[in-house]
Amino acid sequence: MQVGFVGWRGMVGSVLMQRMREEQDFALIDPVFFTTSNVGGAAPDVGKASPALQDAFSVDALKAMDVIISCQGGDYTTEVFPKLRAAGWNGYWIDAASTLRMDDEALIILDPVNMNVIKDGLARGVKNYIGGNCTNSIMLMGVGALFREGLVDWVSSMTYQAASGGGANHMRELLKGMGVINAAVAEELATPSSAILEIDRKVAKTIREDVPREFFPAPLAGGLIPWIDKQLDNGQSKEEWKGQAEVNKILGNQDVIPVDGLCVRIGAMRCHSLALTIKLKKDLPLEEIESIIKSGNQWVKWVPNDRSITEQELTPASITGGLQVGVGRVRKLNMGPEYISAFVIGDQLLWGAAEPLRRMLRILLD
Ligand code: HSE
Repeated sequence: MQVGFVGWRGMVGSVLMQRMREEQDFALIDPVFFTTSNVGGAAPDVGKASPALQDAFSVDALKAMDVIISCQGGDYTTEVFPKLRAAGWNGYWIDAASTLRMDDEALIILDPVNMNVIKDGLARGVKNYIGGNCTNSIMLMGVGALFREGLVDWVSSMTYQAASGGGANHMRELLKGMGVINAAVAEELATPSSAILEIDRKVAKTIREDVPREFFPAPLAGGLIPWIDKQLDNGQSKEEWKGQAEVNKILGNQDVIPVDGLCVRIGAMRCHSLALTIKLKKDLPLEEIESIIKSGNQWVKWVPNDRSITEQELTPASITGGLQVGVGRVRKLNMGPEYISAFVIGDQLLWGAAEPLRRMLRILLD
């Protein structure tokens, strides 16, 4: 099977390449690498020979592929995908960008959660398989089993989203900002007797005036930004709109389950978290809720609602760079016995972006 890769050099693409090497996916395919800037250059070393880099805007070159996996971004998809289909290409398009997600001719892929929807799509001849929004994928990897069991009446999801969701430049900007703040008070910090309110005054001024904000609209280091993506007419951000739209599409729901809440950017590097309020359809004992959540998939990392283990295990420091999705802080809320809280945390670049793409390729290869 000839598989074309576009956008393999960017951040999501690089994570995809790394995961595909780890899982020896390249042994099963004939990879062809495309480029927007270096046609004829050497293909990356993936442990298997592949032709020189092809032109990512050449419909003829792309048409020769059985499968194309794009991490190149939405503008590329918007420009190239329609031309490719118009030219009669009938291969599988697997994409990390959001452009085609809500298209009727496309499915959102998260196979540990919606393998039934994917299998049904393949049987119907669906050819476009698109990775979901990262917060939605992470939420469903964490508590998808409650949806599977038909237990969820609605979800309020308050997110804590890492810099990586913006891109590589945003991660760099966060780190630069941290450095600028630290440098502004380095001397005082080295002197234990210096006055904390004086340090704070300097830090506040530095955050307002000196923390770089070329990529984020406001200083993220030492702060947060309670808005992600475009503004919609109804007061939601586009990121918030995606919650209900995508979750219900991923699950293939006929009856829409309300999902809504506020999406907030915080100064984590690549772990997205969500604080959920879930209204269940019935009052279930906590032990039963725990066993249902654990049954979701092999990557659910259940963290008991206990202070010390939560502080150790339900944090970006613990979760980052791995496939496990932490689920903890599950308890009954004062609102009533059907209302539970949950805190879900996962690596934004893995389940939130690259992993569902390589797994879709594996499904096609089976
Ligand atoms: N839109 C997400 C974010 C990343 O900004 O965090 C992509 O799913």
